[in-house]
Amino acid sequence: MNSSLQEKIFAELEETKVLMRAADLARDHIRDAFDKRPFPTSENIDALAALSGPVPQSPSDPATIIMDMQRFAGDACVNAIGGRYFGFVTGGVLPIALAARWLSDAWDQNAPLFVTSPVAAVFEEVCEEWLRDMLRLPPETVAGFVSGSSMGIYCGLAAARYRLLQNKGWDINAKGLNGAPSLRVVAGRQAHATVIKAIALLGLGVDNIDWADVDDRGCVTPETMPSIDDATIVILQAGDVNSGAFDDFAGICPDAKGKGAWVHVDGAFGLWAAATERFAPLTAGMEDATSWSVDAHKTLNTPYDNGIVFTRDKEALNNALHAAGSYFVHGDRRDGMFYTPELSRRARAIELWAVLKYLGQTGVEELVGALHERSLQFASELREAGFEIANDVVFNQTLVACENDEKTQAVIKHIQDSGECWIGGAKYQGRDVIRISVCSWATTEADVSRSVQAFVAARDAD
Ligand SMILES: Cc1ncc(COP(=O)(O)O)c(C=O)c1O
Repeated sequence: MNSSLQEKIFAELEETKVLMRAADLARDHIRDAFDKRPFPTSENIDALAALSGPVPQSPSDPATIIMDMQRFAGDACVNAIGGRYFGFVTGGVLPIALAARWLSDAWDQNAPLFVTSPVAAVFEEVCEEWLRDMLRLPPETVAGFVSGSSMGIYCGLAAARYRLLQNKGWDINAKGLNGAPSLRVVAGRQAHATVIKAIALLGLGVDNIDWADVDDRGCVTPETMPSIDDATIVILQAGDVNSGAFDDFAGICPDAKGKGAWVHVDGAFGLWAAATERFAPLTAGMEDATSWSVDAHKTLNTPYDNGIVFTRDKEALNNALHAAGSYFVHGDRRDGMFYTPELSRRARAIELWAVLKYLGQTGVEELVGALHERSLQFASELREAGFEIANDVVFNQTLVACENDEKTQAVIKHIQDSGECWIGGAKYQGRDVIRISVCSWATTEADVSRSVQAFVAARDAD
């Protein structure tokens, strides 16, 4: 006999009420996003209190749940898709990516093994091949589909740790770090917080980092690199989180490769430069690195939870992330679990495939090109309005400075409160700056001009 819960769910599916209701609400949410504030008001956030209360003791009507979600949380969402959100390097979701994610969620695929999902394995195989080509990576490069750059960096460095210790005759998986030959870690002083976190998680020790100084753009150059050898992991970046600048790969990677060091490139948003004719020169030489990581959920505008780790050393990645169990069924086809830390995992390559198919090479060029153009527009209109632009706008980041830190902070607060656009702050070259990250496909020229007016109003407010 079926349980009453089963009967209820089958009946609701029959009516298709919940899924259709969610789709309707989602369509309206996106349609309204372009006119909405980029950040919720405090009243919007207070309305979230309606979601709490005692533990539900019995089932609720699914359509009501969905409607209440939109009613109480819809207006409290940070509106990253709306075109005037420049706070973090996030990205606004492309409708095709959302649609593909909905469909693939309905497919309910689990991606660790070919036998748990041939569909997930094939989407991963195709994305691996396409991305290797698009990003100009070496032909032997393999890809792992992870939750984001944090995990991509972690996996790249785990593979590095495995390989460099294995080369010294030390099996890290069997013996651990106690008594292991020592490894050196070289990172630029502007390395992202998630690089530091991965170093800590892997037991390499943050205090052991040999910091490479950076030039005034925040970049590591051959001149600022400490000496390296075959026990060194070097971490470089394609796109500094503040200035957007790229390390000097051509000056560093071939030398590091020759010395047997492992180079990981953190390209969370900037690696996409390599996928375009226009910006590929920024990444010249990075093909001589050993591993790379990038987010599709940033520049490529997929939904969140979509990052990729690449390496030319498949064996190191697979061994570093190895797991064994008598119930696993392995075959000749791709078993994704050897490329990522998790076993059960969302088949996130599906929406990635859909976006790559939708945009194609020319679409990626246009998407990335537009983010850059809007960033240049910000710089030029703000300069004209009397603001100082603190960085060289090479990709999608524009940094703005006022006459002193106090004024910069006041302007940030005023702009955030205005609801016209949302920007954040950072320290750059020792002073406070306003940080503008253009990362959504939806940001128009009009959005930029409207946002510049918010800057002017904020500066002139007191
Ligand atoms: C340069 C850089 N590296 C790593 C990350 C971390 O990415 P994620 O949030 O996808 O883990 C970011 C996030 O903004 C970044 O800009």
